[in-house]
Amino acid sequence: MTRTEADINDREALLSIRDLHVTYPGRGFRASPARVLTGVSLDIAQSETVGLLGESGSGKTTLGRALLGLAPVSAGRVLYSGRDIGALPPKERRRLAKDIQVVFQDPYSSLNPTLTIEEILSEPLRAGGVKTSHNAVRELLDKVHLPADAGRRTAREFSGGQRQRIAIARALSISPKLIICDEPTSALDLATQAKILDLLIEIQERTGVSYLFITHDLAVARAMSHRIAVMLHGQIVEIGDAERVSDEPQHPYTQRLQMAAPVAHPLLQRQRRQERQDLLDRLHLEGLGEDAVV
Ligand SMILES: Nc1ncnc2c1ncn2[C@@H]1O[C@H](COP(=O)(O)OP(=O)(O)OP(=O)(O)O)[C@@H](O)[C@H]1O
Ligand SMILES: [Mg+2]
Repeated sequence: MTRTEADINDREALLSIRDLHVTYPGRGFRASPARVLTGVSLDIAQSETVGLLGESGSGKTTLGRALLGLAPVSAGRVLYSGRDIGALPPKERRRLAKDIQVVFQDPYSSLNPTLTIEEILSEPLRAGGVKTSHNAVRELLDKVHLPADAGRRTAREFSGGQRQRIAIARALSISPKLIICDEPTSALDLATQAKILDLLIEIQERTGVSYLFITHDLAVARAMSHRIAVMLHGQIVEIGDAERVSDEPQHPYTQRLQMAAPVAHPLLQRQRRQERQDLLDRLHLEGLGEDAVV
């Protein structure tokens, strides 16, 4: 289920990041500032998933935070639908804040455990001045394949995978154009992870939302993304079609990631099982038996 760059090639960028620098001030006397991002440029088209791959500390979350206006941008620009978001008046900036939502890695700390799911899902709408109804909440639950009665229960009554569905429903509640998914499945077991990834793809196909999909897992990036950008020490060192970057990485760092990547991933396993079945079917047609498959 590899997705290709050609699918989105002809669309104009929804978001354009241009030569972005993020520098945190140094802590303490004479501490030097931490230059976390140094010249990041990246486009995300409508309905595109860009996988952002890189090791811990490379600056992935910082890039996501910069897009939400939560990191100190020292140089460069972020254009949203062609407009510089740093230069927008506050009212338009607030409107835009609805268009970019985020789903975090840890479904246990990202949802208030004492609120009911209905309260959690209504909150972003109410903050935007929109009255919510039971029906709106039920529709959101249905979009992420949770039962309608889930609205009356509190977050602490749900498993990690179910909580991530709730977090996705919350992100969807105000019909965003872009969702920053910051390692949304790395706290989940493999089977649950595969289900959540499938759900995200299904939602994209239905709504046309774009994803910046942050992960340190090459196989996940490949399965989810149209393009993959590889980040190392605050810079993008390689970017291209997901299949190309994962199968024929050009940068030595990506090559190292490829060699370290475990093959046993549920999505890949499913693909391999299908390929194997196709091969078996073909061999049967040609009068060869199962023994011929190694
Ligand atoms: N508020 C902050 N103040 C100072 N430095 C920070 C701050 N937030 C992040 N950093 C530094 O920026 C660098 C990049 O952090 P970031 O969280 O973006 O990495 P990451 O790629 O998301 O890593 P991980 O895969 O572990 O989540 C790290 O060296 C981190 O210490
Ligand atoms: Mg991070």
